[in-house]
Amino acid sequence: MTLTPVLTKRFGTDQPWKIDNYERLDGYAGLKKALRLQPDEIVGIVKDSNLRGRGGAGFPTGMKWSFIPKDNPKPKYVVINADEGEPGTCRDLPLMMNDPHSMIEGIIIACYAVGANHAFVYIRGEAVHAIRRVTAAVQEAQAKGYLGANILGSGFDCRITVHGGAGAYICGEETALLDSLEGRRGQPRLKPPFPATNGLYDSPTVVNNVGTLASVPYIVLGGADWFKQMGPEGSPGPCIYSLSGRIANPGQYEAPMGTTLRELIELAGGMSRGKELKFWTPGGSSTPMFTREHLDTPLDFDSAVKAGSMNGTSAVMIFDEDDCVVRAVQKWSEFYKHESCGKCTPCREGTYWYVGIYDRLERGEGTAEDLDTLLDLSDNILGRSFCALGDGATSPVSSSIKYFRDEYQRHLDGGCPYVGGRTLAGAHA
Ligand SMILES: Cc1cc2nc3c(=O)[nH]c(=O)nc-3n(C[C@H](O)[C@H](O)[C@H](O)COP(=O)(O)O)c2cc1C
Ligand code: SF4
Repeated sequence: MTLTPVLTKRFGTDQPWKIDNYERLDGYAGLKKALRLQPDEIVGIVKDSNLRGRGGAGFPTGMKWSFIPKDNPKPKYVVINADEGEPGTCRDLPLMMNDPHSMIEGIIIACYAVGANHAFVYIRGEAVHAIRRVTAAVQEAQAKGYLGANILGSGFDCRITVHGGAGAYICGEETALLDSLEGRRGQPRLKPPFPATNGLYDSPTVVNNVGTLASVPYIVLGGADWFKQMGPEGSPGPCIYSLSGRIANPGQYEAPMGTTLRELIELAGGMSRGKELKFWTPGGSSTPMFTREHLDTPLDFDSAVKAGSMNGTSAVMIFDEDDCVVRAVQKWSEFYKHESCGKCTPCREGTYWYVGIYDRLERGEGTAEDLDTLLDLSDNILGRSFCALGDGATSPVSSSIKYFRDEYQRHLDGGCPYVGGRTLAGAHA
């Protein structure tokens, strides 16, 4: 497979996070071009490119920008979601550490396109290194005249505020993020109204993921047709897949949207210790798991849905023949129980019940009724929760029962056949 990196093209070069090095490799050329165009033309280019948000839902970015009302007298805002809390996801942090200016350039172009003069980058609080790196990059951009008043003599003003969150998964949900940014407890808001009309400080707001905005300068420079050459027409562009688990070389692999797991495993040097693939997530733990039969499923927004899952955050977590699927789902359920914000009953109580049942199954104290209860709980959480965190919590449960009912049965018959979630023979830290 031949790959020409786009989003990661500066990774591994000499201090790519420094503005001088960034500029040497096309940095801020997209912004210069954008400022010569009308804002609506930029929205048009991004629409034509079919760029879909990388935050998980795959919403068309140009369309989202076009929802910002022009006649609303309130200030407009662009908010960058850099919370990255989905289990297995490790893509936005490497992007911000290696190439913060690509995101910053994308932010300035987005602000210009939607008529915003102020953007906020919401970074999870534990990622102090990223907060420092992005803050330093913003200062560099300001010193060079890419941010501040009258950017490059265009008459357009823009500033960026970097904000550290407190480390809650729910604060990645866009409306909880906005509440948190406003200084409130991070809990989702009722939609509608949507952020496009009533977002930050009740003003029109675009919320976009780091990778979404980092793609924008390349689209403005290269054009929509160039962008659409990569991957399927309806879900094109480059994608950073984060590979973790039982793989020889875990890490970030950039490839066109629609790359398959078989190809990704090959890129990453194969399964670790030559073991057989057992199950995997295409886009984080909130996306229904896949098995060996999905090795050739293209990993893009539409194909993953067609195959029964979602592309999500393109966080590919890989498990092999020695891994206990019940144990993996137990751990994910503990995560959802811990991160449930408690606002609605199905998610708050349902994730608590999940954990109780999985603990019993792993201890060898499960009953046949427990399996029915797991499915019943999933039915009652999915589509009945206030936000997508609850829906996501059901994905590993129902998909693992769908593909590995026999393994659940073995847990009922004689307890967990694995030791510490892993067979003794294959056990490693
Ligand atoms: C529980 C939960 C956590 C989320 N976490 C993130 C996150 O860390 N980063 C992100 O970009 N989107 C996250 N999202 C999706 C956002 O709500 C939103 O769809 C996204 O930021 C929009 O950006 P995009 O259009 O560029 O994809 C999360 C959603 C949910 C329900
Ligand atoms: S689904 Fe969960 S995280 Fe979302 S509002 Fe309800 S309790 Fe909170």
